Amino acid sequence: MARSQSLRSDVAREIEALREKIRYHEYRYYVLDEPEISDAEFDRLVRRLQELEAAHPELITPDSPTQRVGGAPREGFETVRHRRPMLSLDNANSYEELREFDRRVRELSGRDRIEYVAEHKFDGLSLALHYEEGLLVRGVTRGDGTTGEDVTANVRTIRSVPLRLPAERLRHYRLGPHLEVRGEVIMTRRAFEELNRLQEEAGGKRFANPRNAAAGSVRVLDPKITASRKLDFHAYYLLVEGRVPVRRHSGALETLADLQFKVPPSWEICNGIDAVIAYCERWEGRREKLPYEIDGIVVKVNDVALQEELGYTAKAPRWAIAFKYPARQQTTVVRDIIVQVGRTGTLTPVAVLEPVQVGGVTVSRSTLHNMDEIERLGVQIGDTVLIERAGDVIPHVVRVVRPGPHRRPFRMPEKCPVCGSRIHKAPDEVAYRCVNANCPARLRESLLHFAGRHAMDIDGLGEKIVDQLVEKGLVRDVADLYHLRLETLAALERMGEKSAQNLLDEIEASKKAPLHRVIYALGIRFVGERTAELLAEHFGSLDRIAEAGVEELTEVPEVGPRVAAAIVEFFSEPANQKLLRRLKQAGLRFTAERSRPKGTRLAGKTFVFTGTLEKFTREQAAELVTAQGGKVTGSVSKNTDFVVVGADPGSKYDKARKLGIAILDEAAFEKLVTGK
Ligand code: IVH
Repeated sequence: MARSQSLRSDVAREIEALREKIRYHEYRYYVLDEPEISDAEFDRLVRRLQELEAAHPELITPDSPTQRVGGAPREGFETVRHRRPMLSLDNANSYEELREFDRRVRELSGRDRIEYVAEHKFDGLSLALHYEEGLLVRGVTRGDGTTGEDVTANVRTIRSVPLRLPAERLRHYRLGPHLEVRGEVIMTRRAFEELNRLQEEAGGKRFANPRNAAAGSVRVLDPKITASRKLDFHAYYLLVEGRVPVRRHSGALETLADLQFKVPPSWEICNGIDAVIAYCERWEGRREKLPYEIDGIVVKVNDVALQEELGYTAKAPRWAIAFKYPARQQTTVVRDIIVQVGRTGTLTPVAVLEPVQVGGVTVSRSTLHNMDEIERLGVQIGDTVLIERAGDVIPHVVRVVRPGPHRRPFRMPEKCPVCGSRIHKAPDEVAYRCVNANCPARLRESLLHFAGRHAMDIDGLGEKIVDQLVEKGLVRDVADLYHLRLETLAALERMGEKSAQNLLDEIEASKKAPLHRVIYALGIRFVGERTAELLAEHFGSLDRIAEAGVEELTEVPEVGPRVAAAIVEFFSEPANQKLLRRLKQAGLRFTAERSRPKGTRLAGKTFVFTGTLEKFTREQAAELVTAQGGKVTGSVSKNTDFVVVGADPGSKYDKARKLGIAILDEAAFEKLVTGK
């Protein structure tokens, strides 16, 4: 008896230690985006915990990282009244309106100059999280602002939502037992694209934009669906007993980050409205490069006492405003609807538009995705439509503004417009496909995909060249690219000897692309960039993937039976086997490189960046630091070791000086990280 009890407590200890470890690595991965261990190692930890918990179910607690998978579907959501209303924000649609806001704040407060915090305005779904004694107990949507829906089971599956807050930090801040954190659930562009790709392949509906996808994923009755969507939560508001427990909003953001929440990255203290406008201008140019969509900048009075003094109107605080970037939308006429044949033979309807300028770019085509989408939009040839350009995503039709006077519906052709073969539609799929495996359109798209920036990255192999290579029969599959000769290329239109040589050099250089890019470049159904990375990491070589069965493949995180079946199908096709042999002969990388050994020169050192560096982007600079074992955080605290200051530094610079933290200019930083 005594013995079995001590065994039990050994297990309990191992379980707790594993949970701590997993929580830490979840935080590194999902919040800081700086993983320390590989996905495979992380999985091993989770699997070990799952095994122990399965053997000792009495030891399972709701804050265990295994409890993110979501329980059984429910019938409906309960409604919950918010402790304090979740208000909306007033909008400013121009810098003039932003200045008016500032004038009002100054007048009401009697101060000359106001300190603001500017932060990204996420385009997602707002959410309130309730914590009791540090444990997540409830997640509630905004709803109508007074009452929202209890979506706790779904929210628990979002990895950047902490299930438990670090106890020591809570004590440090003396925050009391009940805590409410408000913020926004979003989906990154990449997760959104991947989701739509999967939806389409599986015959489901596409989401119109990341916001709808995020909102739709939180408000589903089956938490397993939420768990399968890659959602992210950013916190921007902290309430304790219905009050903001710090003196400044910037302090709240720092506290939230310290409690291991993701907070709006790149928030800044702006002294006066001119600094706010400079911030808005700076981010307007850069917002397309962000991994997620923002539709503006939220500007908040930093001083919480002043916030309370300014108070609220019926629907919004007087101390904050949302500056909205001009919409990248435009109306135009659909001249025609044509079809394009893709890499897998799928026919995609495309609207040919009366060319219009949208956000500085001329748009003359817009994808309509599939027949379902055309029906959903109710669009016909001749209609006037609203189109939108978001990020570097291809422009899409938002809705029909006015039906054309002589409108005519689009019909899917019965024969492939490229090769004339029969068109087939499987009953359980949305897509129509050309049945000809050798359709030149497929080859064209496969080549373009193979050469793409995220695949083998062969710069210079664009549409014009690919079209000629296909038409002239110079290339019959992607492996033929590696046998092209200088004379052949130089004889093509729009090609001189020099550009032909450049292209050959690019093709040669592509042989060095790492394994995961090769896997992605092959264009296997359902295998996107992320899946390719996970496969490369798990198997380490293409040959091992090719040999793997469905069962082994599904051991890879995020690979389900459907994806596994598609992979097996790809590798069992004799034509593909031959292709792989030829690619291998050509010298492509079929095995993974061992990951670069990490340096330790900066081990334990924490860096913060402010201002713009000349030689590096923020990502590159951060990479240099992490490659040497250092860490990068978003805000300055007494735990910061170095603040790196570029041109136009923000308030972090002042704070670093106040705290007496070592300040590096770009040259000193470079010297430190490179050791030269
Ligand atoms: S603060 C009382 N900060 O925008 C303060 N809201 O258009 C309320 N939003 O309902 C919100 N990013 O859902 C705040 N950094 C941010 C935000 C943000 C997005 C959303 C939020 C709000 C809506 C108003």
